[in-house]
Amino acid sequence: MKIGIVLGTRPEIIKMSSVIDEINKHDDECIIIHTGQHFDDEMSKQFFIDLKLPLPKYNIGIGSNTAIKQISIIISELEKILIDEEIDIVLVQGDTNAVLAGALAANKLKIPVGHVEAGLRSFDKDMPEENNRIIADNCSSLYFVPTKENAINLQNEGINHNLIHVTGNTIVDACKRNLKIAMEKSTVKDIIKYEKYIALTLHRAENVDNPERLKNIVRSLIKIDYNIVFPLHPHTKKSLKANGLYEKILTAPHIQITKPLGYLDFLYLLSKSSLVLTDSGGIQEESITLNIPCVTLRYNTERPETISAGGNILAGTEEKEIKYNIESILNNKEIYEKMANAKNPYGDGNSSNKIYSIIKDTFDNNALKIKSSDTILDFEGYSMLNVEENITVKEFEKNNNNQIIEQIFYKGSPEFIDNNTNLKNKTIIIKKFKQKT
Ligand code: UD1
Ligand code: UDP
Repeated sequence: MKIGIVLGTRPEIIKMSSVIDEINKHDDECIIIHTGQHFDDEMSKQFFIDLKLPLPKYNIGIGSNTAIKQISIIISELEKILIDEEIDIVLVQGDTNAVLAGALAANKLKIPVGHVEAGLRSFDKDMPEENNRIIADNCSSLYFVPTKENAINLQNEGINHNLIHVTGNTIVDACKRNLKIAMEKSTVKDIIKYEKYIALTLHRAENVDNPERLKNIVRSLIKIDYNIVFPLHPHTKKSLKANGLYEKILTAPHIQITKPLGYLDFLYLLSKSSLVLTDSGGIQEESITLNIPCVTLRYNTERPETISAGGNILAGTEEKEIKYNIESILNNKEIYEKMANAKNPYGDGNSSNKIYSIIKDTFDNNALKIKSSDTILDFEGYSMLNVEENITVKEFEKNNNNQIIEQIFYKGSPEFIDNNTNLKNKTIIIKKFKQKT
């Protein structure tokens, strides 16, 4: 089997690293295609070194550009590569422009797409990431979702539950595999100025491309009565400079700016911090994995499990709210401990193993290929049913040919559809087809 991995940014390299390792342990071929969206060594090459990954076979070298130029050029470059390489399945991870372009290109070539970290939704259409992940999910054939909540999002959008697999998040694999190495090898401790500190990251377009929000955040940072270590994303550096805010942060004695850190250094920095302040997606997941309380500088999150587990708080970007949340956590041992001990909802660090096995089984069963149907199926519509008998999802669908369960409700709440779920006393929504005989 030939697996193509399309990636383009720092978090995709980190979150696909364990999947790449898993493929390379077997007889399958893994072709890494880097779009070049992140191009500085410290945003890209460093992660291949830290995570001991083979370098990409292809680098499209897209660099910085408008989203439209990036996406359209990546798609047309991918067309050549995916055809020449005769790729069996394309894997994309997350929600960047690389994911959208990779999923669309493969879909147009009728190459199946596996979406790692599928099903996340912030319900904020202003975010480029939200649109990217929705489109990528529409183009996919296999969905590797971190949690049951993510699966329910996909069920709500009509995705066949048989294609959805709850695997946990590969960030846990990356954290667990690399934390000990980071503790032994990272030299970042030699440059961290403070013994106790808040780790800060900031880069999301909705914050750093919005001058008002950026000003508010900087004003809050200046006033926080705690040391802060701030590895600065290149996007944010540009915006801070453009808005005359860079010097303000640089000259604040309690804030230490560093260049973007490699993975081992960042894991060290995060795991030794008192708290993390961030607008990153991956860091919301990593902080709950590493037992570090997280305050998120956003108004919504596609990672609501971190909030309901009690490890993460949404603080928005206003000074009062940010200050209040940080102080409540750092000045109250009980709140601190509760947040730090929140249960990680993202699995046990074996996600990549599960993802690989599902792809392999699907391929071996000849079920990966996108085939056109030669049965005439007339779409009859949707219906709702209260089930009274003892019957599983699998049995129900076997007994009711051409009916697919789209959603299960129990006591008013939707449930993840597992083939072994017993439907007794549950309400189901069914999509019905009639087969012409
Ligand atoms: C991108 C993703 C975002 C993800 C983030 C991870 C999209 C729409 N955005 O955002 O979802 O959270 O990566 O970090 O795909 N730059 C450099 N050097 C680099 C990379 C970027 O200087 O190596 C600068 C460029 O000037 C560029 C700006 O950062 O204009 C933004 O880069 P871009 O890739 O467009 O978005 P990110 O903010 O990195
Ligand atoms: N990260 C890193 N160095 C840094 C900042 C972040 O290695 O200086 C890692 C972090 O551990 C996490 C990932 O980058 O795994 C998150 O990427 P980012 O915040 O850029 O993107 P997002 O997750 O928001 O898409």
